[in-house]
Amino acid sequence: MPSVSDRLPTFPWDRLEPYKTTAAGHPDGLVDLSVGTPVDPVPAQVRQALADAADSPGYPTVWGTRELRDALTGWCERRLGARGITEHHVLPVVGSKELVAWLPTQLGLGPGDRVAFPRLAYPTYEVGARLAGAEYVAYDDPLELDPAGLALLWLNSPSNPTGQVLPTERLRAVVDWAREHGVLVLSDECYLELGWEADPVSVLHPDVCGGSTAGLVAVHSLSKRSNLAGYRAAFLAGDSGVLGELLQIRKHGGMMTPAPVQAATVAALADDTHVAEQRERYRARRTALRGALEAAGFRIEHSEASLYLWATRDESCWDTVADLAGRGVLVAPGEFYGPAGERYVRVALTATDERIAAAVRRLSA
Ligand SMILES: Cc1ncc(COP(=O)(O)O)c(C=O)c1O
Repeated sequence: MPSVSDRLPTFPWDRLEPYKTTAAGHPDGLVDLSVGTPVDPVPAQVRQALADAADSPGYPTVWGTRELRDALTGWCERRLGARGITEHHVLPVVGSKELVAWLPTQLGLGPGDRVAFPRLAYPTYEVGARLAGAEYVAYDDPLELDPAGLALLWLNSPSNPTGQVLPTERLRAVVDWAREHGVLVLSDECYLELGWEADPVSVLHPDVCGGSTAGLVAVHSLSKRSNLAGYRAAFLAGDSGVLGELLQIRKHGGMMTPAPVQAATVAALADDTHVAEQRERYRARRTALRGALEAAGFRIEHSEASLYLWATRDESCWDTVADLAGRGVLVAPGEFYGPAGERYVRVALTATDERIAAAVRRLSA
């Protein structure tokens, strides 16, 4: 049997292990700023909703409960400014990573189809193309892509890893171009609630999409905004034709969000207070880390939003990783996000206040 894993790149995080061992040897312990995994508590009302739904003996549905669909459509209209979003324009997914990885396959893409994603990007866009056996291309400017055979165009604003935010006019130009060429746009907006020096806009905002979801699907996740990475709670919003097709495929594939997680998602989307509180935690950590990195000779690029600082000392990312690991601080080498990141590191804001304070001390020592 041919090995599917042969289609995939080497799992990059394995390469960081020796540096993790070094950093963990620090007398005051490891400060791990390499992964963007939330560390603050799950909001109380979300935990309560999960617990209240614990007695869920029956199968959940892929499309979700009526309450969940109402929560998704309501949130899209309220938070994204989207118009005309009905239950046919939303679809729960089991965390957004599985969706990103399996979307090309679920849409039936394969050899001869191309998937495009940003030059510096979350690696799972490429993984998704590879799993489907499709071709892929990394772009600097999507408007310069050859549209022939281009089936899927990924946008990611705010960006992982750079924190860059695409302004409304830019999004609008990309959407217009994609529609003109019949290219489906998938907009990964999982950091939308985490703008610091920019106000991220969804592709579903009327100023971008002209009030129509045609050819557009936004991907949203509760992992970062509500500290729910452990729950696997995310959803799609956009083109009802695409989502209807995915619903059929995912029903056959049994890709159901567990019922207690559906209930927890409803509670999380009904509340903005915990999102604001979490933002303030990240804002304080970002300010402290940014100052310490700059004082230690780093230049921060982009980073106007998201959970990361994109930092460089104009040297190989592995030299930076090694130096910081020697000080007990683990960061992600920019190369993980594409060769263009070779001289950068990605520094995550997802550590406790105590660990961030330790990182700041170590950077200034
Ligand atoms: C750009 C981007 N998209 C998607 C995800 C996946 O998030 P989740 O699977 O937790 O929804 C991540 C996680 O870090 C990410 O950075």
